[in-house]
Amino acid sequence: MNIDIQQIAQTKIASVDFNNLTFGRTFSDHMFVCDFSDGEWKNPTIKPYGPMLFEPSARVFHYGQAVFEGMKAFKDDNDDVFLFRPEDNFDRINASANRLAMPSVPKEVFLEGLNALLKLDKEWIKKGLGNSLYIRPFIIATEGAIAASPADEYKFIIICSPAQSYYAGEVRVLFAEEYSRSANGGVGFAKAAGNYAAQFYPTQLANKEGFQQIIWTDADTHEYLEEAGTMNIFFRVGDTLITTPTNDRILDGITRKSIIQLAEDNNIKVEVRRVSVAEIKEAARLGELKEIFGSGTAAVINPIKGFKHQEDVFELPTINDSYATLFKEKLVNIQYNKAEDKHNWRVKI
Ligand code: COI
Repeated sequence: MNIDIQQIAQTKIASVDFNNLTFGRTFSDHMFVCDFSDGEWKNPTIKPYGPMLFEPSARVFHYGQAVFEGMKAFKDDNDDVFLFRPEDNFDRINASANRLAMPSVPKEVFLEGLNALLKLDKEWIKKGLGNSLYIRPFIIATEGAIAASPADEYKFIIICSPAQSYYAGEVRVLFAEEYSRSANGGVGFAKAAGNYAAQFYPTQLANKEGFQQIIWTDADTHEYLEEAGTMNIFFRVGDTLITTPTNDRILDGITRKSIIQLAEDNNIKVEVRRVSVAEIKEAARLGELKEIFGSGTAAVINPIKGFKHQEDVFELPTINDSYATLFKEKLVNIQYNKAEDKHNWRVKI
């Protein structure tokens, strides 16, 4: 693929305080852009990160044809750069795109575009555990037409943002009782922009009560725990790890499936099955609920300190042999090229 590379005149990197990053606020020097029109992807370009011009009638603004991915690039002590399971992100953005009647991005556009961008913005990836370059590939419908039907024109764009942690401080959650994130046959499994917008209002209400996130329950009964919206969710009852199976309502998280594999590798019993609110509350009452944690690219593995359901509020104990700590260590050691990668998850750029 021939990428037209338009380099920035002067890098912005000196103006960035890499020790004080707020997630998603700072962007690297360049972005990758590729157009779709007349049934094909064309004009792959890398140019300085900056504002773009769109028709006010672009369908993305009216009908939400927008899907995205979250990935990270890591740098090891030798300045080598790695991605984590990038082909899974490639597969997933196309699964999301297809569900929203958007065209698939070809593999060379996704992977070669990303590689070229990372080579150019390599200095933005800082060494040291916890530092990464968060990568946001996305596809939007750019055709200016407001009939409610799929667009004929799209852009695939990749932007990059240096990142440290996603959540600052302890996370407490509400178990959803009224609102729903997704429903059977819907788009819950897709990384569709609208899935996130739909959570903002109920999450604002939760924030007012002192909870950072909602753990969504099934839309029919609100009896089964599904995902946290920015994270998949794991429960440790006794020494067993439990997580809900993915389906058309739940995102097929790459960190989630890596944790399931790491648990199996470490002889930790994992149950992938429906998890009810009632059993988690009962386990908490009996002192058998040892941990809840969320997993995601941005959040990595985030312990959940407490939860509320109806009028019942629970605080989780602090434990020494935490699975969240164990899996986080195992995962980041693979990501930062500090441990053997027996599943070939790491990809060197
Ligand atoms: C990610 O973890 O990459 C996500 O896409 C979640 C996002 C809301 C930050």
